[in-house]
Amino acid sequence: MSHIAVYPGSFDPVTLGHLDVAARAARLFDELHIVVVHNPGKTPRFSSEERVQLIQASLAELGVYSNARIKVDILDGGLLVNYCRMVGATALVKGFRNNVDLDYELPMALVNRDLAEVETVFIPANPEHGQISSSLVKQVADLEGSVSKYVTQSVARALASSSTNRKKIS
Ligand code: PNS
Repeated sequence: MSHIAVYPGSFDPVTLGHLDVAARAARLFDELHIVVVHNPGKTPRFSSEERVQLIQASLAELGVYSNARIKVDILDGGLLVNYCRMVGATALVKGFRNNVDLDYELPMALVNRDLAEVETVFIPANPEHGQISSSLVKQVADLEGSVSKYVTQSVARALASSSTNRKKIS
């Protein structure tokens, strides 16, 4: 039996922290689906398709995407556990940086287990990436700071053009 896991998130945009968790999770499972999910509590900077493209480009940049066991997908709506059932996944992967992340993730992990017996595997963020978040990265990019320590070159380029477009509009 092959072990399939789903790594869900907003990934708006994907950071080196997310990519590190994905690469480590891919070593634990036969197949890993990185899934861009719409979070109704957040207004995304990038469309779901753009986020998928940035994840794929970033995995390729880091030499991880040659690994055919990693797939990147979109969940347009509905329960995450239904997506898990559809692809035969028995586990969810979540990265965590600190106890704030764990407090946020724990209720979701328990609900997902109640709904469909899908277990959540928590992977601690590499301390090197412990301070990275997508929202901080967007803020630094908008204020013309360097994000090269936090994201791949593909994401840095996308952030630079999205920051320029935002300035033109405002
Ligand atoms: O990166 P984020 O925004 O913290 O990710 C949150 C996400 C998308 C993983 C979470 O909102 C989610 O699981 N949404 C799917 C909807 C769902 O299944 N909800 C009920 C169980 S938690």
